[in-house]
Amino acid sequence: MANIVVLGTQWGDEGKGKIIDLIAPSFDVVARSQGGHNAGHTVYIDGKKIVLHLIPSGILRSDKLCIIGNGVVIDPAAFLDELADLKSFGIKNDENVAISKKAHLILPYHSLVEKISEKKLGAKKIGTTSRGIGPAYQDKAARLGIRAGDLLNLSVLKEKIEQNVDEKNIYLAHFGEKKLNKERVFEEYAAYAHRLEKYIKDISLLLDDCIRQKKPILFEGAQGTLLDIDHGTYPYVTSSNSTVGGVCTGLGVGPDKIDAVIGITKAYTTRVGSGPFPTEARGEKGRLFMEKGNEYGATTGRPRRCGWFDAVAVSYSCRINGIKRIVLTKSDVLDALDEILVCVGYNYKGERLRSFPSEIWELAEVEPLFKKMKGWAEPVYGIREYSSLPQAFKDYVKLIEDLIQADVSIISTGKDRKESVLIEENLKSLMDLDKIKAEL
Ligand code: GDP
Ligand code: IMO
Ligand code: MG
Repeated sequence: MANIVVLGTQWGDEGKGKIIDLIAPSFDVVARSQGGHNAGHTVYIDGKKIVLHLIPSGILRSDKLCIIGNGVVIDPAAFLDELADLKSFGIKNDENVAISKKAHLILPYHSLVEKISEKKLGAKKIGTTSRGIGPAYQDKAARLGIRAGDLLNLSVLKEKIEQNVDEKNIYLAHFGEKKLNKERVFEEYAAYAHRLEKYIKDISLLLDDCIRQKKPILFEGAQGTLLDIDHGTYPYVTSSNSTVGGVCTGLGVGPDKIDAVIGITKAYTTRVGSGPFPTEARGEKGRLFMEKGNEYGATTGRPRRCGWFDAVAVSYSCRINGIKRIVLTKSDVLDALDEILVCVGYNYKGERLRSFPSEIWELAEVEPLFKKMKGWAEPVYGIREYSSLPQAFKDYVKLIEDLIQADVSIISTGKDRKESVLIEENLKSLMDLDKIKAEL
């Protein structure tokens, strides 16, 4: 079967975790290529909630190889805590987890540096997850980073930690922060080295073996297209490529190994952190999305900003990623509405824009053009068959498909794995539907 990328088409939290868990039975390998423990992918199994941050969501099934690629930044403590949490849920298959030798590590100074940079920005702060993600990628680009492979040679690790801590201490002291003790940082990371060693591998080679053995791979995106460092709403973005290119660079696989890209798309829009959001619904409607959709960050618990579906943004994401199929999630959240708005275009200074703008000062001033639709009188919540969906909802889906020029392949009607409508003709060439349906 095919190798598939699943990624977010909006500002993250589209429901990637639920969908990856749903389709995972069709794949042998689940691989993350970017981001870090800023991600929060929620999965419900038999009413139990599990949030994955760093480890691919495939870990919930004992037969999946779960790979953390070179493009990911790893906080060793967060990784070990997550494995321990999974163990407390009875998930013990950590021998299926592999970390790239080339993945960069998050060190204690990264979150301290982030705290300073957010404080310096004042009202213009990014509103990051405070996990040290940005500063870890900064060090990677500055060629100062410490990689998982360095944990395999303690004298190299010591030298690199000392050099970095010395340098960062000058910066920390300048901004009145407490200096770090380089010996203590080294001791902490030397202890991690001992515990992480067995997971650290040549991931490109491992994936190549899987590909040769015809094991289908599911590439699990984190964040979303509008948070991409290049194509997102810069500078209100994360520090990695959450678009499709990140898969090749973040794992060491060629583009010919990607058969399709599926975009995960919420039936409305949310965003955590700062930055322009043209279809944001303030007041009562925004609160309704937040409460019905339980829109609170899976990583930081912060309330998510909510608004209407934005077809300009999603069709832009489809173009950037080569998406021909999407999964529409959280449709049930709109059940309570009599009237639904869909943004079909943007005007800027009185003129219709051709696409999603690159500059945030322009995006901040666009006037969203809304099409109004009647709500669907009967709820879609929990529906599992396409034929049972109300006609007004099917019209909503058709409108979205026409606007973004992509087909809807799954409709998610609730947070549980089972609360899903599979549109089989749009999926059957990509995955083994019998294996997926066997677990529903
Ligand atoms: P991710 O980061 O893209 O994996 O998404 P999150 O897990 O951060 O946020 C999505 C939230 O929506 C989670 O709490 C999911 O359990 C929930 N969810 C996913 N799909 C649906 C759906 O179709 N309906 C409802 N009501 N909740 C959903
Ligand atoms: P998942 O994978 C939603 C946002 C932060 C902030 C910006 C930069 O669960 O969809 P960072 O800590 O990455 O430097 O923060 O990116 N952000 C996310 N928003 N979902 C995520 O991941 C996010 N990861 C980062 O809120 O605005
Ligand atoms: Mg999330």
